[in-house]
Amino acid sequence: MAASIDYESKIPNNVELSSDKRLQRALEHWLPKYLDWWNEMGPTDFNDKEIYLRTAVSVDSAGWAQFGHVKMPDYRWGIFLAEQEPNKKIGFGDHAGEDAWQQVPGEYRNWLRRMIVTQADTEPASVEQQRLLAHTAPSLYDMRNLFQVNVEEGRHLWAMVYILHTYFGKDGREEAEELLERRSGNPDHPRILGTFNEPIQTWLDFFCFTMFTDRDGKFQLLSLAESGFDPLARTCRFMLTEEAHHMFVGQTGMGRIIQRACELMKEHPDSNPREHGGIDLDTIQRYINFWSSSSNDLFGGEVSSNSANFFGGSLKGRAWEMKKHEDHSALEAFKTLEIWDGSKVVSETVPMRNAMNEVLREEYIEDNQKGVNYWNKIIDEYGIDYELRLPHRRFNRNIGVFAGTRFDIDGNLMTEEHWDERKGDWLPSDEDREYIKSLMVPCHEQGKIAGWIAPPNKGINGNEFDFDYVRL
Ligand SMILES: [Fe+2]
Ligand SMILES: [Fe+2]
Repeated sequence: MAASIDYESKIPNNVELSSDKRLQRALEHWLPKYLDWWNEMGPTDFNDKEIYLRTAVSVDSAGWAQFGHVKMPDYRWGIFLAEQEPNKKIGFGDHAGEDAWQQVPGEYRNWLRRMIVTQADTEPASVEQQRLLAHTAPSLYDMRNLFQVNVEEGRHLWAMVYILHTYFGKDGREEAEELLERRSGNPDHPRILGTFNEPIQTWLDFFCFTMFTDRDGKFQLLSLAESGFDPLARTCRFMLTEEAHHMFVGQTGMGRIIQRACELMKEHPDSNPREHGGIDLDTIQRYINFWSSSSNDLFGGEVSSNSANFFGGSLKGRAWEMKKHEDHSALEAFKTLEIWDGSKVVSETVPMRNAMNEVLREEYIEDNQKGVNYWNKIIDEYGIDYELRLPHRRFNRNIGVFAGTRFDIDGNLMTEEHWDERKGDWLPSDEDREYIKSLMVPCHEQGKIAGWIAPPNKGINGNEFDFDYVRL
């Protein structure tokens, strides 16, 4: 089936929007509200600048995007679903083998709506969290990457709003309105998930966020891409294509900060990189600890009846459910995991379906570890004896069985007093934050870069680092 994109209509799409006038009108009605939100909560001060951005032009894996200079408010936010597979069957859960649903099954309507709204809410939230960062961009290349992530998170909101409008009637339209009304970090009207209310004040936070928090997004999308509700699966599949770049930004951004730290350590062996305007590895480690533990929370409780319901209902699978797993019912399977019984860590065996959050978190942590290995290779290439790591999954948790109890970075139980003494070794202190903030001075000259980060090996889309990624 040809999946060509209609670029003539107000809302670019490959879902034949023009054949459903009511839906088209509803979305065209939402469009100016979306633009108002963007103009208020997006990277507003740069709306009149031309940015070198990629725009989706096809959903084919070969050559799906086109690059060119555009002003962000003119970005063609559109609705693109991965191609429909003919005779698609549901792959897992209690409905395995049935035809994939092309409409919302009534019995699962509320669960599906909640899942979609929760995912959708993260997309505008991250744009809000990052809205002031461009002012302190370390280079035009980085500024462009930030804006690329921002416009695509905006498109992800479109992707989810399309599903809400198309399949959830009036409730869906109301949810779509509310997605533009909640505000990241607003105590009265916050975004749904905790991490998406954390301020992203510095570029170190931004790179940690795109590394760890966008990667949570990847795993949520992977599991929703298996959904028996086919439009959702197809939407998520295409979002994953864009999402890969966000994690690239995070992983290589951190890698370039680490590289700069190593360069400074080599040049000045007896001093802290901070004395030369860099970021020391210990501080980088504390930021890793903070953002990875906060992102671990996003997977929810270790043992969860929701996760069992979502899997049993064939709504949310595991990552790579069909590729990686054999038993797609998971009804007879069990998982042994560690939980907190109120006084100690114990091992418990629970039905697999109830452990799906933990299964997904494990995959996620494994994926994070690959990024950490990449960073350690950089350190190793400089012949420096230092290893970055992920904190234990029990460390600094606010959701799940380990919330409310203190564990050190290796997962050992500790008292509240001991935690208070030691937490400064593991989490960014006020002083760390002040120091990182002090480095956030803009470097907006083409081909130049701030002193705390190394330039990338190559630019975007075959261009040099020295390129007019943003025309200021
Ligand atoms: Fe996203
Ligand atoms: Fe993302």
